[in-house]
Amino acid sequence: MATERVAIYPGSFDPLTLGHVDIMQRGSSLFDKIIVGVLKNVDKEPLFTVDERLAMIRDTFRGQDNVEADAFSGLLVDYAASRKATTIVRGVRAISDFEYEFQMALMNRRLAPTIETVFMMPAEEYSYVSSRLVKEVARLGGNIAGLVPKRVEKRLYERVRE
Ligand code: PNS
Repeated sequence: MATERVAIYPGSFDPLTLGHVDIMQRGSSLFDKIIVGVLKNVDKEPLFTVDERLAMIRDTFRGQDNVEADAFSGLLVDYAASRKATTIVRGVRAISDFEYEFQMALMNRRLAPTIETVFMMPAEEYSYVSSRLVKEVARLGGNIAGLVPKRVEKRLYERVRE
């Protein structure tokens, strides 16, 4: 049997948006398995814990066996190698994403030349959606329906009201 093609889709996912979901779905049709890697970032003050974020991703992809959610710390390329992933998937929405993504992709290539970064575009309707903006709108009482999965929407409103 040919080697399984495994990709890592890393990020903070605080919280998961429909833009992320769109990339995960596109990725899952290109690779045998896509591992959504949630970074345990000690520097940031997240709205949701890593476990809560993992639960929201798992809940969204229940029944879809080739999408797995896992937490990681340390270098992304080390984590990718430990999971036998040969590809890193990143979503790019606009030109403004490009500079940061370009730097990360080239740094990752320097660290691990055999791991390839693949950029994917989400559907146009999500091209302006980010976790940061969704949190801000929810905090200020705006409508985020259609931008995040239904269960995430509910949890987000609950969290910002706590
Ligand atoms: O969605 P985000 O928050 O922009 O994701 C950033 C992420 C998780 C991809 C990036 O911070 C990362 O890979 N961190 C792990 C540490 C690492 O490998 N740093 C060097 C990357 S060039």
